[in-house]
Amino acid sequence: MGNNSSWFFILCSLFVSASASANVQNKVTNNPADELVATINTNRTASNSSSLYSNPGLACIALQYIKAYQGDCSVVGGPNAKKPDNSLFAETFAPNCAVELSTLTQITGRLLGCQSQYVKPSLAFTEILMKNGKSVEILQSRNHTEVGAAVSGSDGGGPYFWCVLFSNGRSNSSFVVEGGVAKISRPGCFSGASDDCSGAIGLSRRLNLWVIVVSGLISLGYVFRF
Ligand SMILES: *[C@@H]1O[C@H](CO)[C@@H](O)[C@H](O)[C@H]1NC(C)=O
Ligand SMILES: *[C@@H]1O[C@H](CO)[C@@H](O)[C@H](O)[C@H]1NC(C)=O
Ligand SMILES: *[C@@H]1O[C@H](CO)[C@@H](O)[C@H](O)[C@H]1NC(C)=O
Ligand SMILES: *[C@@H]1O[C@H](CO)[C@@H](O)[C@H](O)[C@H]1NC(C)=O
Repeated sequence: MGNNSSWFFILCSLFVSASASANVQNKVTNNPADELVATINTNRTASNSSSLYSNPGLACIALQYIKAYQGDCSVVGGPNAKKPDNSLFAETFAPNCAVELSTLTQITGRLLGCQSQYVKPSLAFTEILMKNGKSVEILQSRNHTEVGAAVSGSDGGGPYFWCVLFSNGRSNSSFVVEGGVAKISRPGCFSGASDDCSGAIGLSRRLNLWVIVVSGLISLGYVFRF
């Protein structure tokens, strides 16, 4: 019985790993942050708000914004809610993203959510980011012209943070990245940079699981042989 369930677990894990690597090989825009931006724009246009420009510099800053929480889910929303200091945009976030300081533009809205389990972007949108009426108002506001989204796990696993920043900047003159190419950083994924990022959300815990599965196989083999 014990052995049967171990084998079941191993076969499932093999199946999961195989489908995960198949996804990585798909050369489509395989990035949960891009998918979230697409979901946001679909919702906006369906409610007669404009589609927003996906700004990679702003999105890189959204990932830095997540990092400022240092994995602490308990201060996202609720009575203990904390917000990174506004001064960090110029002092830390922009320099880490190579965004030119003179092009920082007003943030007109922010959506932030955190959950222990990773869910796909469409679910993160409805179940994490759109929890209350105020969020829908922020989402559909006509004050925004552009958007940047990011998602990241912490320490190679959960909790998973989702962050969307909105701005009223002009696409070609706000959050401009030095050299024109957004600086990709890991872990985490951000939108707008044509960055295939399916495996970088918090992969190392899954790799650990893989190591456990492989060593499980080896020790099972050991049991059968001797
Ligand atoms: C937009 O998203 C909100 C929040 O999930 C939802 O209530 C609303 O029905 C959506 N609007 C459209 C047009 O899909
Ligand atoms: C969007 O605009 C169209 C035409 O102006 C109107 O018929 C429709 O009811 C509007 N939809 C929403 C969700 O406001
Ligand atoms: C849009 O901007 C105006 C002026 O800054 C502000 O009063 C209003 O609350 C904003 N609307 C939303 C939905 O954020
Ligand atoms: C940015 O785009 C606007 C409108 O498309 C254009 O008028 C303006 O000259 C552009 N600015 C730069 C710096 O390219």
